[in-house]
Amino acid sequence: MKNNKNKIDKVNHIAIAVNDIKTAGKVWSKTLGCNVSKIKELPEHGVKVIFVKFLNLKIEFIEPLGRNSPIKKYLSKNPNGGIHHICFEVKDINKAKEQVLQNGVKILNDGLIKNGAHDKPVIFLNPSDFTGTLVELEET
Ligand code: CO
Repeated sequence: MKNNKNKIDKVNHIAIAVNDIKTAGKVWSKTLGCNVSKIKELPEHGVKVIFVKFLNLKIEFIEPLGRNSPIKKYLSKNPNGGIHHICFEVKDINKAKEQVLQNGVKILNDGLIKNGAHDKPVIFLNPSDFTGTLVELEET
């Protein structure tokens, strides 16, 4: 990065895509004794979600909801599920966007700042410009 004005120092969540969040929730609560939330449907994001909360991090399990779910393609390539994206917190989404673009990284969804799953502004970075990982930046 060219400057440290918008330095990232906090992970908000890691999202794991699965075909069945109910089963995923049972596995994590039974095997590792984790605290698993109830299922929440987010039709505007095309996913159903459960949260597994830790002291320093949330893991979100996402299951496709509806025909145009954005995670369907990922699951067809990874039928057993897997890490879909990592979300980092930023203080100013507009500054973060500018910084990302200045460094040659494309932003998905035509570069639009969208309202994310937590009702906060987010952008997603193009994985092929960013070490092969889908990164979400969320203004907190
Ligand atoms: Co996310």
